[in-house]
Amino acid sequence: MTIQWFPGHMAKARRQVTEKLKLIDIVFELVDARIPMSSRNPMIDEIVSSKPRIVLLNKADKADESVTRQWLEYFKEKGISALAIDAQTGTGLKQITQLSKELLKEKFDKMAAKGIKPRAIRALIIGIPNVGKSTLINRLAKKNITKTGDRPGVTTAQQWVKVGNELELLDTPGILWPKFEDQLVGLKLATTGAIKDAILNLQEVTVFALNFLKEHYPHRLKERFDLEELPDEVVPLFDVIGKKRGCIMPGGYIDYDKTSELVLREIRADKLGRLSFETPKQFTEINS
Ligand code: G4P
Repeated sequence: MTIQWFPGHMAKARRQVTEKLKLIDIVFELVDARIPMSSRNPMIDEIVSSKPRIVLLNKADKADESVTRQWLEYFKEKGISALAIDAQTGTGLKQITQLSKELLKEKFDKMAAKGIKPRAIRALIIGIPNVGKSTLINRLAKKNITKTGDRPGVTTAQQWVKVGNELELLDTPGILWPKFEDQLVGLKLATTGAIKDAILNLQEVTVFALNFLKEHYPHRLKERFDLEELPDEVVPLFDVIGKKRGCIMPGGYIDYDKTSELVLREIRADKLGRLSFETPKQFTEINS
């Protein structure tokens, strides 16, 4: 579900996360491994500054492995703990408890020294819509917890979900908004499927995706669409893909909407292989 984030919703979502933070020891910030920056909330550092945090690069099964390694290195250099995971199959989830224990050792040692009875670590999952929060909670809990919906402002009673003996999760995640005022961020979110198509100009998203693939994954593009050469411009590329796949309108014109749907569907279904749509280098270049 795609949320329409109005200022009131944002303020409410932020308030709810702040309330939840009071109950927990550590935050698991879930991002999409294919776009770790674009799938973050723009104010996350400020919002969770009071708590230790692990960045979880989810859907790592869909991302380019070499780029994911670069991202893990990037976060490490910034002193931020990060793990690559696949919430759907459970890959990488075992490390979450271990890393949480390491990050909270001092706090828990202090509590023990004061004679406070040992307890499980309490955690909150935070992320933008569609990043895999419910999938992760269900995986960790090893049961199906009903999805409460992505509507910011929906209040439900807080409940703890046990993950083994050493970790407890709040059963409702913190839902925050993406940096959608940045057009490039919107295009990347749309390409990966985080924003639903109804509210977007599909052709615009596909132009972005094809240009990106042409530059970063030309061989995948050639192989998938059976192309000898890649045209320099994006419109002829659209044309040739449309023609090859039979997206033709009466009169022989290329059906760009149909071609767009097809290209995006195939990207999202990993038909062009594992893809990442941003690298740490792109961000360090911008910031330096
Ligand atoms: P949310 O609570 O953060 O909103 O996300 P949710 O768990 O509903 O996950 C969104 C979609 O992403 C789901 O697909 C889910 O199966 C998929 N997903 C979550 N984690 C992973 C992962 O690690 N790897 C892969 N490959 N997929 C993952 P869906 O139900 O098909 O929804 P949609 O794609 O139609 O939006």
